[in-house]
Amino acid sequence: MPLSRKPLKGMRELFPGEKRVEDYIVGQLSKAGSAYGFEAYEAPVLEPLDLFLAKSGRELAKDQSYNFTDKGGRNLIMRPELTPSTARMVAAAGELIFPVKWMSFPLCYRYENPQRGRAREFLQFNLDILGADGLEAELEIFLVLQRIMDGFSAVPGQYAIRYSSRKLASGVLLKYGFTPLEMQNAFAVIDKKDRMPLEKWEKWLQEEIADSSKAEALLKFASCGTLNSSWLSKLMADDPAYSELLKFSNMLDRAGVDSASFEAGVVRGLDYYTGIVFEVLDTGGENRRSICGGGRYDNLVGMFSNQNVSGVGFGLGILTLKLFLQTYGLIPDDLALSHPADIFLAVCTDEQREFALNLAESLRDADISVEMDLSRKNLSKQFKIADRKAIRYVVAIGPDEVDSGNVTIRDMNTGESVEVDIPHIRDALSMMEN
Ligand code: HAM
Repeated sequence: MPLSRKPLKGMRELFPGEKRVEDYIVGQLSKAGSAYGFEAYEAPVLEPLDLFLAKSGRELAKDQSYNFTDKGGRNLIMRPELTPSTARMVAAAGELIFPVKWMSFPLCYRYENPQRGRAREFLQFNLDILGADGLEAELEIFLVLQRIMDGFSAVPGQYAIRYSSRKLASGVLLKYGFTPLEMQNAFAVIDKKDRMPLEKWEKWLQEEIADSSKAEALLKFASCGTLNSSWLSKLMADDPAYSELLKFSNMLDRAGVDSASFEAGVVRGLDYYTGIVFEVLDTGGENRRSICGGGRYDNLVGMFSNQNVSGVGFGLGILTLKLFLQTYGLIPDDLALSHPADIFLAVCTDEQREFALNLAESLRDADISVEMDLSRKNLSKQFKIADRKAIRYVVAIGPDEVDSGNVTIRDMNTGESVEVDIPHIRDALSMMEN
């Protein structure tokens, strides 16, 4: 029996057409990061399990991960996210100029139930600032996010950046008498609010938070969508986390980040966040999974060194972003067309093959991409291959071309043909492009 043609459940498999779309998205993201001076880096895929158990949270590190014991008896994990590795690298680097601004495209692995926007192997875009304690860092991160979405021609209304603060959430819960353990549990409950039907969530809330006044406070907090709410402003008037959010909201207004708004219930699922947290969402109903999630984390680098360095950043899912862009028709149509090379070099018979090969190599030296016939089919079949591969220009090499040193460039889009001597192929191509 033949082997299965399917990859393992939830694993990434991108055919060239899908890879073109991903490369386009990755290119745009990288361009946005570079516009702010972020530098690319890489971290390992395989890490000690302890690195993630300590800070990411048990659910992610243990239950939702690929973890195993290797031949040397070490407990390892396929990274479910990048941030703990980033923190370790910053602690280990020694000679860094702070603030550090780094970006990376890690493949991550989570043992989740695959569904729309959720895979087991997925590519993220991470962008972090380390060693900048003020809100200017958060502002810059939001500006990058808005620039990314602008770059794809997405408009506020299709997406939203929603933010809140872990400190604010802890402050409110503390006032209602939550213990630290209950608080951790409460964050997990709040985080799931938009990921399940409201009725189911409310039922779950009551099961998790037995005390009814605490459950009621949690519900009120999780549903609060403005900093001006009289309940919130009265409760937290003197709290620094509340003043920080008011200040941040003002900074966002002044910088024109009109896609961002406060939403108390944004807490994000990872344990290490300590300050402002945020996410980017599709505001339509089709894509429920967040496009991006992030926040400030004060205690991660301190796990590896005596010197603590605060960080703020995000992870953006390429899959979730792609689904969002597809939903709103924001992926350029021409990406659907393959364009593997500028020229297809057809070869009449084997006698001209060496001449054609030398010509192909010299064109490649001149930065013209060339696909040369490898099929040994007749010329008309070679033209068909070029056409099906959407290669715009075809040059056929036969005995006449070898003798004269002149070739005919055929434009498959227009049917136009131009005869030219070999040294002038590039000029002829630029003329035909226009
Ligand atoms: P996260 O919220 O766990 O944060 O993930 C960030 C984004 O990764 C999500 O918003 C989603 O788009 C994407 N993502 C997560 N899980 C999956 C999955 N199973 N399939 C497809 N996409 C997924 C973090 O990972 C933090 N380390 C981000 C961060 C960086 N915080 C500070 N710096």
